[in-house]
Amino acid sequence: MRNNYLFAGCLALAITALAGVRSMAPSAPAGADPWWKHAVIYEIYPRSFQDSNGDGIGDLNGITRRLDYLQELGVDAIWIAPIYPSPQVDFGYDISDYENIDPKYGTLADFDRLLAEATKRNIRVLMDAVMNHTSDKHPWFIESASSRTNPKADWYIWRNGKGPGKPPNNWLSTFGHSAWQYNPKRDQYYYHYFYIQQPDLNWRNFEVETAMINMLRFWLDKGVIGFRLDAVPTLFEDPTLQNEETLAGKNKFGDPNQETKLQENLPEVHGVIRRMRAMINTYPGDRVLVGETYLPNVTELDKWYGGAKHDELELPMDMQVGFEPKLDAHEFRQRINDAETKIHGNQPLFVFDNHDNPRTAFRYGDGVHNTAIDKMLAAILFTTRSTAMMYYGDEIEMPTTPPTSKDQVRDPIGITGWPKEKGRDGERTPMQWNASTSAGFSTNPRTWLPVAPDYKQVNVEIESKDPNSMLNWYKS
Ligand code: NOJ
Repeated sequence: MRNNYLFAGCLALAITALAGVRSMAPSAPAGADPWWKHAVIYEIYPRSFQDSNGDGIGDLNGITRRLDYLQELGVDAIWIAPIYPSPQVDFGYDISDYENIDPKYGTLADFDRLLAEATKRNIRVLMDAVMNHTSDKHPWFIESASSRTNPKADWYIWRNGKGPGKPPNNWLSTFGHSAWQYNPKRDQYYYHYFYIQQPDLNWRNFEVETAMINMLRFWLDKGVIGFRLDAVPTLFEDPTLQNEETLAGKNKFGDPNQETKLQENLPEVHGVIRRMRAMINTYPGDRVLVGETYLPNVTELDKWYGGAKHDELELPMDMQVGFEPKLDAHEFRQRINDAETKIHGNQPLFVFDNHDNPRTAFRYGDGVHNTAIDKMLAAILFTTRSTAMMYYGDEIEMPTTPPTSKDQVRDPIGITGWPKEKGRDGERTPMQWNASTSAGFSTNPRTWLPVAPDYKQVNVEIESKDPNSMLNWYKS
């Protein structure tokens, strides 16, 4: 059996030597390089970072309170997962108003204060732009669903069924079961790649693009540095609506396995991205577009930069390195080498953790060398040439704590897919600041998700004092 500890150490050393060390401190002026080339971007899942009003849910004032901590950690930018008004079916990824703040998280004034305080500390703020879909409670969808002739009738993907109870085709939602939902008022189906409550916008209607560009401008005018573009490869679907090819076996929701070639990564999306890039380029201060780009290979990833033209995203996420399925030195070497050599000199963005996947120790750990493995992965993240994206709690080695019974599950995919799919609650538990009530996350002993049981040993306060802690590894 492989000695993972030795392997971890060797790989970290080798990569460090090959790539040169980059500090976590805010970027020093580096010639003409934009800030994001030397940056650490820290993802905050706002429900879980810091509660300031005792309701058991994190909020904007909580984030503001923790900015000194982030500055000391050496964070250059924070990406805040969606904080807009939302019915919270997908915990904010179902937006009902793009130009406001959900009262659970605060107000626009709280947001402005957060932005101003972050700027004072040289920390930039990235918003999450969810443009593939809205909430079904968004006024655009309510209007669109009201008839076949209203002004927004064509803002979403509406189609006739193939007969009573028969959707337009076999396409599946990535969150389980048919991607089509019947609407009796229009006697038609609408398409949703994610939850039923997240209808897909019709990006072939130019009014949709205009509305979204205006929304991005609203936040850019406030001073945000840019956006993390949610689920951006799924903006377009094949208009012929042919069936996807069925593959062998069933998925974790019990549906047949299927291709998704007609549902994602269609070439039309690149025109939209080029226009967005041209728009953000009109703003001063190195604004940036980061993409949530799960793609099959580096050739596809290169297209999201605009290849040699460099005219699309500055930082599409490289999911090949950080979500490589095996802890295998050859695989990592190959994928890092691809990022060095096959993206036309564009800037790689590596990411190992986020709010949609179990944390690295859960995916790569062997139960014995988990800490060594996590330290090695952090070394890859912070010492390669890549821009680094990390997820809150990585720096203290927060655990993944999946629910142990279906009645505990908060994330709807965990309910649809139980027990094969337990949902994403495990990687979204409250930040562990100290050993007090609710780990210092909230004064409320009941938090929206339970605090992980190890919080008395694994927390910022304790790890600050331990020179060998993960926190100090991250800092150094
Ligand atoms: C990707 C987000 O990261 C995930 O949390 C969300 O459920 C889907 N996009 C739908 O918006």
